[in-house]
This record gives sequence, C-alpha cells and structure tokens, in this order.
Amino acid sequence: MHWKSLRFRIAAVIVALTLVLGLGGTLRARSDLTRIAHEELEKRGVTIARDLAVQHADQILVNDIYTLYTLVNDFLLNNPDLRYIFILDAQGRVLVTTFPDGLPAGLRQANVPSPGGGYQVRRLRTTEGVIYDIAMPVAEGRAGVVRVGLLEAQVWAQVNRQTLGLLALTGIVTLLGAAAGFALGTFLTRPLSELVGITQAVARGDLRQKAAVKGSEEVEQLALAFNRMTEALATSRDELLRRNEELSALNAIAVAVGQSLEMDTVLGAALAKVLELMKLHAGWIFLLEDGDGRLTLAARQGVNADLFLPRLEGSSEPCVCQRILQSGQARLVESVEDCPRLKQLANNGGLGTCHVSVPLRSGDRVLGLMNLVCNGEGCPSNEQNLRLLTAIGHQIGVAVENARLYRELQHKEALRGELVKKLISAQEEERRRIARELHDQYAQALTALSMSIEATERAFPENQAPLKSQLESIKTLTARTLDQTYDLIFDLRPTILDDLGLVPAVRWYAESRLEPLGVSVHLETEGLQERLSPELETACYRVIQEALLNIAKHARARHVSIRLSLAQGRLQARVEDDGQGFDLEAVRRSTASGRGMGLLGMQERVELLGGILRIDSVPGHGTRVWIEVPIGHQVDKESYQHEQADSRPHRG
Ligand SMILES: Nc1ncnc2c1ncn2[C@@H]1O[C@H](COP(=O)(O)OP(=O)(O)O)[C@@H](O)[C@H]1O
Ligand SMILES: [Mg+2]
Repeated sequence: MHWKSLRFRIAAVIVALTLVLGLGGTLRARSDLTRIAHEELEKRGVTIARDLAVQHADQILVNDIYTLYTLVNDFLLNNPDLRYIFILDAQGRVLVTTFPDGLPAGLRQANVPSPGGGYQVRRLRTTEGVIYDIAMPVAEGRAGVVRVGLLEAQVWAQVNRQTLGLLALTGIVTLLGAAAGFALGTFLTRPLSELVGITQAVARGDLRQKAAVKGSEEVEQLALAFNRMTEALATSRDELLRRNEELSALNAIAVAVGQSLEMDTVLGAALAKVLELMKLHAGWIFLLEDGDGRLTLAARQGVNADLFLPRLEGSSEPCVCQRILQSGQARLVESVEDCPRLKQLANNGGLGTCHVSVPLRSGDRVLGLMNLVCNGEGCPSNEQNLRLLTAIGHQIGVAVENARLYRELQHKEALRGELVKKLISAQEEERRRIARELHDQYAQALTALSMSIEATERAFPENQAPLKSQLESIKTLTARTLDQTYDLIFDLRPTILDDLGLVPAVRWYAESRLEPLGVSVHLETEGLQERLSPELETACYRVIQEALLNIAKHARARHVSIRLSLAQGRLQARVEDDGQGFDLEAVRRSTASGRGMGLLGMQERVELLGGILRIDSVPGHGTRVWIEVPIGHQVDKESYQHEQADSRPHRG
C-alpha cells in the first residue's frame, strides 16, 4: 500500500489523533499523580511524626525508651518507604533511633524547626535518593523533636508504573485506531479501487469493462460518468477501426486497379481484390456497352463463363440489376428468384442464392455492375459494407473510364501513326514522281535545248558577233537552269540514295550543302557495308537531311561531325555541330506556332521505325542529334537496285 493512498492517510490521521490524545492524557495524569503521591507521602510522614509527638509525648517526656522502640519498629514494619525515625530530647540528645550505628553525620542539623513554630518538611538529597524529612516538635519544642524520613523513590516507582499502564493503554488504543482507520479507508475506497482497476483495463485497451454503480453518491456519479466515457470511447474506436478498414480496403482497390490501364487486367484485379476483402469466392462484372445499353461480361471469378453466355448478355428483360444501375447504390439482392436471368443460372447450380450488386460509376455516369455471389451467410449486406462497396464501385468505375480512355488513346495513336506513315510514304512517292517528271521532261528538254543552241551557235556565221554573244548567254542560262533542275531533282530524291545507299547520300548532301558555307564536314561510319531496307534508308536520310539543313540554316557552325554505325541490329546516327545551339524546350513550347515542325518530323519518322531520337543542345555550345533505330530485315544490294531500277531518276 502506498503512503499516498487514502486508506493510509485515514489510518495515519486516526493514529496521530490517538497518540496525541493518549500521550497528552498520560503526561497530564503523570504530573497529577506525582503531585498527589508527594502530598500523600508528606501527609503520611506528618501523620507518623504527629502520632509520636502528640499521642506519645508522655513516653518521650518520661523517657519510656522501650515503648518508643516498640512504636517506632511498628511504624517501620507497616511503612516500607519509611527510611528512618529518631527522637531527640529537649537537649538534642538522641532518645530513640532506627539507625543501628547512630545518626549519619549532618542529618540532625538538616532539618531544625524554628522554636515555637509547627512542624517542618525538608527534601533531603542523599546517596539513597531524595528523602522527605519531617521534623515535628514535641510540646512545641520544649520536650524535643520527632524526625521521620520517607524515601521518595517509592513514589516514583508508583508513578512510573501508572504511567507505563497509561502508555500501554495508549498503544493499544492507537493500534485499534489504526486498524479501524484502515478498515474505514478500505470501506470508503473500495468502489474507487474497483474503478481504478477498470480504468487500468481501459488504458490497456479493454473498453468492454463497466464500473459497478454503487457506494457513496459521489462514487456512483463517478462510475456513471466513467461508464458513459468508456461507451463513447468504444463507439469512436469502433468507428475509427471501421473507417480505417474502409480506407485500407479502398487503398487496396486503388493499388489493384492502379497496376494497369488494360481493361481486362484492371477489372480482373479489382474483382479479385473485392472478393478477397469481402471474404467471398465468386463474382463477375458487367460493363454497359456504349450506345445500346447492353450488359456484357467483362470479368468473372469463381463462376463458369458458360453459365453466362448467351443467356445473360444482351437480354433486355427488366431485372433488379437494371434498377440498381439506375439507383447507383449498392444493394443486396436477397434471392436470385428476383432476377429472371440469374434464376436460370441458380437452377443450374452455378450460383449462390443471393448476391450483392454494386454499380460501377464514374461521376454521374453508370458504366457497369459488379455482382458478388453470397449464400445468405457472410453476405456483406449490412449498411456499412454496402456503403463501402458503393465507394469501391466508384473507384472501379473511374478505373474503367480510364481504361476506356486509354484504349481509345491507343487506338487513336495507332491510327495517327498509320496516317503519318501513309503521309510520309505519299510524300516520298510524290517527291519521287516530281523528281522523275522533272528529270524525264524538263531536264531532257533543257538538255535538248542546250544541244540545239550549241548546234545553232556552230551554224552561225562568224560576222554575227552580237547575236552570237546573245546565244552564248542563252546557253549559259539554259545550263544554269539545267543545273538548278538537277539540284531540285536531287533535293527531292537523290538518286545517290537509291543507287549507292545511305552513307554516300549523307556524305554527298553534307558536303554539297555545308562546305559551300565554309563548314568542314567529318563523316565516320562503322559496320555499314550492306544496304538497308529502302524505307529505313529513306527515313534515316530524311532525318539526317533535316539535321544537316538545320545546321546550314541556324547553327553558324564551323565543324560538323557525322557518325553512322550499325551494331547488334541497330542503326545509330549522330550529327554534331559546334554552332550556336538553341533552347530545345523553348522550341518545343512554340511548336504550336509552326516553329519546330522540322524537329517534330524527325521525331515522327524515328518513332514510326520503332526507334528513339535524342537532341541535346545548349545555347552557345552546339547541338547533337542522335538516333537509334532497329533495322529489321536487311535488303541485299542487287535485288534492291533491281527493284528500284524503273523508278529511279538519273542525272544525265
Ligand atoms: N543545329 C541547330 N543549331 C541551332 N539551332 C537549331 C539547330 N537545329 C534546330 N535549331 C533551332 O530549332 C528551331 C526548330 O527547328 P526546325 O524544327 O527544324 O524548324 P525550322 O528549321 O523550320 O526552323 C529552329 O528554328 C532553330 O532555331
Ligand atoms: Mg528545320
């Protein structure tokens, strides 16, 4: 028991009170006793002395020593604390004494009554202790003095005995008081101790404990308040636990549906998770088809697909599921008898007797329905579960929406890729056609024209100098136009690419474009002895062409280094310049305004080949364009040339 406890304190107060009262009383009694005992002692001494001096004055006067001795011895026998008696005659001589060897020195003078006065009492300190000495004059001192000595020690012994008795009594009373204090404390604090025990249980987390409502009114009030508090605590703890469970369920679903954007994976994972959370074994998900409102089976677990098809899908018969779809709230369908479709399945033994239907919603659109099969027992049908399932339905609905959007995006992306591919090949085809046209029609015509000018020139007489010089300038103009036409043909579709392949075409383009601008070109190749497929060569050529054209147009470079290499089935090309560089992000941001279309075209072409493009540029520090594409199948040179023979434009 702790010294701070109430029981201890009550007991301590009682003990302290008893001790104070007991000891105080004892002290008071002892002082009274001492006083009375001293008075008694003195009175007895005086009585003895008076008896001798008054009753037996005659014997003293006549010196009847024998009688006096007898008397003195009687007194000595009857009073154990009587130390001595002696009688002096008028002359101060000792008549009778109890001292066998005479009076001790100084005793006679220790108490001498005044002549004519009464008796006199003196306290004498002797080696035997304090002695009350009474000197009683006989016949007013004329016949002598009777001296009686009584030992005080007896008085003290008696007083001490009495005191001890009182102390013992005090001790007993104190012990009884302490016991009573403990008993009273225990009685008063028992309900509190019980309450403390329950509080400790509550602190350990056991909220089912109830305090007994008993004891004093205050304790009852306390117990009632305590019980109300634990009830409130238990309710809020249950609520918290439930919330926590709900949140972790929602979180588990979020994790499950977040793992993929593929519809089948998302729905399969979501259904499996919901069944696991609800401790069920079977369920399925219907999705509402856009447009016609038909339900199609999108995921299932624990039920055979044969059971569904074709009976469930497409049935337009009204059913409870339809109502749930409309209400948007999860609901328990107590009996499959309610559902014309499920009834058939239940009869086939494939389903339980009831199911919970959960609409899958995104915003205010209902996208489908999740049905969870249960068998009456373990139905997750209480209000909380239905609320949780409704929230889960929302989550899955959003995932369904995302998966749909993703599918749509993928589809659109594939379409776009296809379109870009078609555009690019149409563009190439058109360029090739125009190049061929230019070559076959205009270049041939210009060549013929220039030949006929030369013939005319030769046929001209020498004296027609002015006309001749005019012809000369027409010839020069024609030749320049022919050159420009060839340049145009080459820009449109360099025959060198078709004839000799990527590396010579790139070399030719770089040198013919950049060297006139004073840019030195360094080309390095590795592993590119064989020809690549025409589409690959064309695409790579166009990408490198754009990179080189950009250098010519924007870079103000002095050196350009090109590296083409083929290793492990991948073609890598790197075009690096030491020009002024640019802010790639800024260009990308301004794509909408038309700037950056060249870079975008490069990106598109590389992506169509399943490759990657990287552009690194820092203003003031040059630009590096790097591409890597898988080469797919390689085409050997002869067959490729053979294939291309008809459509190739030739110079000359
Ligand atoms: N090698 C380069 N050096 C410096 N600036 C460049 C280089 N390549 C591209 N740029 C910058 O990027 C911009 C976008 O290039 P591009 O998409 O090819 O468009 P365009 O060539 O039609 O301007 C260019 O306008 C230019 O400012
Ligand atoms: Mg450009």
